[in-house]
Amino acid sequence: AYVITSPCIDVKDGACVDVCPVDCIYEGGRMFYIQPDECIDCGICESICPVAAIYPDDDLPAEEAPFLAANRAYFGAE
Ligand code: F3S
Repeated sequence: AYVITSPCIDVKDGACVDVCPVDCIYEGGRMFYIQPDECIDCGICESICPVAAIYPDDDLPAEEAPFLAANRAYFGAE
């Protein structure tokens, strides 16, 4: 699944929501989150985010690693 990370905080551009073909991106507080079980790994959101906040879960920069758990936790997933 793809993961939204720190550059989204307080930016919340929302372009990713408009392009997601399965509507798995949800607004929550100061950023948006991707529901990992709904994400189909198409990658369209990664290419359109103006602040490059979105990464594949297997290619997260080290400093953004906590957002893998944060995205899952937002939806109550393990
Ligand atoms: Fe955030 Fe980028 Fe989407 S700023 S809301 S991840 S387009």
